[in-house]
Amino acid sequence: MSNNLLAGKKGIIFGALDEKSIAWKTALACHAQGAQLVLTNAPVALRMGEINKLAEAVQAPVIGADVTNMDDLKKLFEESQKQFNGGVDFVLHSIGMSLNVRKGKHYTELDYEWNKKTLDISAMSLHRVLRTAWEMDAINEWGSVVALTYIAAQRVFPDYNEMADAKALLESVARSFGYQYGVKKKVRINTISQSPTRTTAGSGVKGFDAFIDYAEKMSPLGNAPAEACADYCVSLFSDLTRYVTMQNLFHDGGFSLTGVSEAVINSIMPPSE
Ligand code: NAI
Repeated sequence: MSNNLLAGKKGIIFGALDEKSIAWKTALACHAQGAQLVLTNAPVALRMGEINKLAEAVQAPVIGADVTNMDDLKKLFEESQKQFNGGVDFVLHSIGMSLNVRKGKHYTELDYEWNKKTLDISAMSLHRVLRTAWEMDAINEWGSVVALTYIAAQRVFPDYNEMADAKALLESVARSFGYQYGVKKKVRINTISQSPTRTTAGSGVKGFDAFIDYAEKMSPLGNAPAEACADYCVSLFSDLTRYVTMQNLFHDGGFSLTGVSEAVINSIMPPSE
């Protein structure tokens, strides 16, 4: 269904790795709603080549950028401005990577060099993107920036490991920069806290299958699928949500406000006949 909610809008989408990626689905949804796009990912991810399929589907150029490299980000915004013949109306930050998780380090035994990289890639990268745009004045008035996060920022999910700290930092950057960019240019910045979703990053979390099953049982509406997350992103990029900023918005089928559900109780203690 298309209502052309993003007609005339131009956006940069970070983080489409393969067709399971939330960013991939969001790019498709934004394109269907009339947006013009630039796709970007880390050079190592581009070498997989998958993104070219998406680029063709949404008629967008692909510009490589390691989100921890300020020169790459500057080039990305310069080339996007050329491509769009002006500024950007929206940005999706859909990036996450934990070196300690990847290398099997327990939270109590973090390697701090890896931890620094995790926080840089997964959280401070939002600051880097916003700062680059700020210095180049690359985001248009009433522009919208969305970053993806997870409820482990507020509550403990032990296997989420150092990514819990990364998400807490990411959400804080969204608030703090949201204030600055709101005052300066009415640019809004929000995070969407998404249900567990089967993607490359998601499946890296230990015990992911049990995790996703538990969340499904705990959510009155069930886990929110990636396609629905893409639709939520579209709404936040559209003019229908112009006064929403500095928020962490739960997109989780009601998980975050459910104490316990009958489905979970029944799975622990089946009802007696
Ligand atoms: P994904 O693995 O498809 O996407 C992660 C992306 O981050 C990849 O495209 C990867 O290339 C990119 N990336 C990693 N290092 C980078 C770097 N240095 N520079 C630029 N890009 C880099 O997985 P998914 O799930 O679509 O992840 C997107 C976002 O959604 C992440 O922030 C993730 O934490 C978040 N999220 C995911 C959930 C899940 O269960 N899958 C739940 C809640 C939030």
